[in-house]
Amino acid sequence: MLGHNIIKDDEIDILLEDIYQRYGYDFMQYSRASIKRRINRIMTNDRFASFAELRFALKDNTEFLQHFIEEITVNLTEMFRDPLFFKQLREEVLPQLGTYPLIRIWVAGCSSGEEAYSIAILLKEAHILHKSLIYATDINPRVLEIAKKGIYPLRHIKSFSESYIESGGKEDFSNYYTANYDWVKFNAELKQKMILSAHNLVSDTSFNSFQLIICRNVLIYFNKELQERVFHLFDASLENLGYLALGSKETIRFSGIQHNYTAIGDQKIWKKLYPL
Ligand SMILES: C[S@@+](CC[C@H](N)C(=O)[O-])C[C@H]1O[C@@H](n2cnc3c(N)ncnc32)[C@H](O)[C@@H]1O
Repeated sequence: MLGHNIIKDDEIDILLEDIYQRYGYDFMQYSRASIKRRINRIMTNDRFASFAELRFALKDNTEFLQHFIEEITVNLTEMFRDPLFFKQLREEVLPQLGTYPLIRIWVAGCSSGEEAYSIAILLKEAHILHKSLIYATDINPRVLEIAKKGIYPLRHIKSFSESYIESGGKEDFSNYYTANYDWVKFNAELKQKMILSAHNLVSDTSFNSFQLIICRNVLIYFNKELQERVFHLFDASLENLGYLALGSKETIRFSGIQHNYTAIGDQKIWKKLYPL
């Protein structure tokens, strides 16, 4: 029976169309290879014997839909992920942002919030947290609930702390949280300037104008067409001379907005120029 749960391309089309029609979530422009891998994973782990069974489970079962969305959207994250990226933010972007009276930052696809808390720490250390607003958004309300609490497993802290130091952090990392048994809770001060809300990059529009947009490790799951839509959304949401930051495997090269941006450094950060 090897391979009995390998879903076919036309079955993926049917499933994604069902989900769109029934629940309004549009995954049709996600990268097909990744969607296929994730659906096959669900079929194996949740022991579906056939595509028909999976399709049936997704009908009128919002709890299973939630599980399905979580599998498809991949919520993996960590604090100070790619520490050199955060170092470049500290050294080259924050001094510029510090010249504004109010700094608006959008962390799109923030998952459970580790990236947004890392940014808050950077802003605090640059003495500009008090005049910043961090809009952290994700498609998945469940991960946003974790972000709101700011409570993470203690077992991750050693690696977060090492990345913090590698990013140029000079404080004692434990000053930023309180440990309680197997969990740590990050200081309320860090989330005071954070606005966490649901936003879908596929279907929602721009909601503000920002000086820095960070969207890392999200576009890798989208096909080229959807990436292009999101780049235009970011471009429309970014002030002139604002910064756009992507993940290590993502780029605006070959996109329709690239001509108006210049790369600063080697950590996937671009600066928006005045339009020609
Ligand atoms: C791999 S995580 C990246 C988290 C964080 N940015 C990082 O780099 O560590 C991808 C996140 O993108 C979110 N995501 C996927 N599709 C999305 C969409 N259409 N709109 C908004 N967020 C989305 C997922 O829910 C997930 O939390």
